[in-house]
Amino acid sequence: MTNTTNTFQHLTHSTDKNNIAWLILDVKGEAANVIGPELIEEMNSAINEITSSSSSNPKGMIISSGKDSGFIAGADVKKFEGMTDSESDRELALKFIHMGQALCQKIEDLPFPTLAMVEGFCMGGGLEIALSCDYIITDDAPSTKLSLPEIQLGIHPGFGGTVRSIRRVGVLKAMPIMLTGRNLLPRQAKKMGLTDYCVPLRQLKSTAIQTILRKPAKHQSPKSAKLLESSPMRKIIAMQMRKQVASKAKQEHYPAPYALINIWEMHGSQSDEMFEAEAHSVATLVSTDTAQNLVRVFFLQNRLKALGDKKLFTPKHVHVIGGGVMGGDIAAWCAMQGLRVTIQDMNTEALGRVVGRANTGFKRRFRKDKVRIMQAQDNLIPDLHGHGIAKADVIIEAIFENLEAKQSIFKEVEEKAKKTAIIATNTSSIPLHEIAEIMKKPERLVGLHFFNPVFKMPLLEIVQTPDQTDPKVVALVQSFGAHINKLPLPVKSSPGFLINRILMPYILEGVMLYQEGVPATVVDKAAVDYGMPMGPLELADTVGLDICLHVGKILADTVGVTLPDTLDKEVESGRLGKKSGQGFYAWKKDKKVKPDSKPWTGDRHKVQKRMIEKLLAEAKSCLDENIVEDSDLLDAGVIFGTGFAPFRGGPMHALLEAKNAL
Ligand code: NAI
Repeated sequence: MTNTTNTFQHLTHSTDKNNIAWLILDVKGEAANVIGPELIEEMNSAINEITSSSSSNPKGMIISSGKDSGFIAGADVKKFEGMTDSESDRELALKFIHMGQALCQKIEDLPFPTLAMVEGFCMGGGLEIALSCDYIITDDAPSTKLSLPEIQLGIHPGFGGTVRSIRRVGVLKAMPIMLTGRNLLPRQAKKMGLTDYCVPLRQLKSTAIQTILRKPAKHQSPKSAKLLESSPMRKIIAMQMRKQVASKAKQEHYPAPYALINIWEMHGSQSDEMFEAEAHSVATLVSTDTAQNLVRVFFLQNRLKALGDKKLFTPKHVHVIGGGVMGGDIAAWCAMQGLRVTIQDMNTEALGRVVGRANTGFKRRFRKDKVRIMQAQDNLIPDLHGHGIAKADVIIEAIFENLEAKQSIFKEVEEKAKKTAIIATNTSSIPLHEIAEIMKKPERLVGLHFFNPVFKMPLLEIVQTPDQTDPKVVALVQSFGAHINKLPLPVKSSPGFLINRILMPYILEGVMLYQEGVPATVVDKAAVDYGMPMGPLELADTVGLDICLHVGKILADTVGVTLPDTLDKEVESGRLGKKSGQGFYAWKKDKKVKPDSKPWTGDRHKVQKRMIEKLLAEAKSCLDENIVEDSDLLDAGVIFGTGFAPFRGGPMHALLEAKNAL
């Protein structure tokens, strides 16, 4: 490189021997490049320097990152926190959005070829900057991910990304990216035309340089995509999209996807008016309760992530005992995260089932990536006799829920395990200290409570007995949680821990309402209308009514919940829910049979209130009993462990809002 200019805080720019200008972003004081007003200003100034320098007349400009963590993580979310609907906040938001839009427009208007060279994540405003370049190239590693995830924060792209993504790949491909906020892997992004090249990392730089020098034709969306931009077509497509969104999210709970569809329907991506509509739409959305609560959830998630310090511990080998529903999936999940896993079960058929289920999981997860599928398969080793115990760094017991059986396992495990190994149980209801009673060092035992289905549920309760469990072990287990890409939440060993304890009164109130004659569909719809991912009766059917009864009885004895007779009767008559084909609903091939709708004229709001109040009250009791450390951790746990309405910011936050509203 020549001519390096280093008058900036957050970037450097230089010119190479090919006379290509390089803008290397490295935001000071942050682990990742996040976009704030200062970075935008510096990029503007750097581009001014590049264009005004009379001697240079560059062949092109390449934007890349100086961070190992990735290209750009998006706009600085901290800036969205606490935005109100006051005129001054709206002006502030609009000013920032306009700055971002102006920068992207400036890049797009440059008289020489421009290119974004992406390695690692390229998200939100980062992808919007990349989209304003003539070319985007990425490496092909699975750690490189591209996305426009703003919708998950209750807004939508605001730096011109709504317009440019549609112009680049057409509305039918761009809208799903923005409406879901999902990550695209490099090959997917290339295939859909969002990026121009996807090459091995070692060729990234040379491809970037060659692209600038050769100036290949710029990517254009196919003509057919442009046809969809006519006003009548926009109306039809927008209607269809609204319908799809409505099946997942209500407008009153999640206004952003509807706002995004509206601005496109009104202006279309071929018109420059959509830029201004985009800016105003985001400036309005950012102060909504939904956006503010989703921003809160974003920070709560970061807090949980930060609880697991990966540097503390490097697990290599996990041994799982019990290859049933949970053990099998825990083993498969760990194998998928690159760990060597031995799975022990006294039943060879169970081990066969584990391998079968795991292979299906690997294929679903890694799609066509045969190498990763094979790696995961190689990682998972059936171990009938438990040879893995002596070698493992982490031992997780997941046999059936029986105290004596678990104790006898831990007796053996303690004798054979490495001194440094983590020894954990996945029990969902047995107090930790009772299992640990037979151990020589009970302080070694910790609860590692996964949720079903393991592949889907991000939370991991890290269960400890105060004054017994070694805090160092707890810290190591939290680190393990981070290594396997779960969100670790430390909780006190107490009946139902945090999540089942809070869910159970909500489920039981649903059953009670059903017992009082409210149809199952009405009960469940009332909960879903509040924002729960699933109604309590469908949830009970899914978990198994026998398991609900079992946990319900424990909680009835300890924290005083009331058990409706119906639950007992259903279980006695063999109606156990999904697994038996009949519960509150009929089930066929694991799918709920749509029940006949019964007329019901009662007060639906009251139904909702009764269930939600039970859940919120139990959350408050858990906090009062210090089951978790503070109300933010409680909210985080309930959102990531149950799917509790994220747009409400968590149960404690919802309680606070309700109090403030009085
Ligand atoms: P499961 O009944 O599906 O599987 C238990 C497995 O353990 C069976 O394959 C059995 O052959 C094996 N097993 C029993 N005794 C053994 C021994 N001595 N040595 C080796 N293998 C043995 O049970 P599931 O549902 O997987 O539950 C396991 C544990 O996870 C329980 O403690 C349960 O409370 C807990 N849990 C269950 C959840 C669920 O939704 N099913 C959720 C979270 C925790």
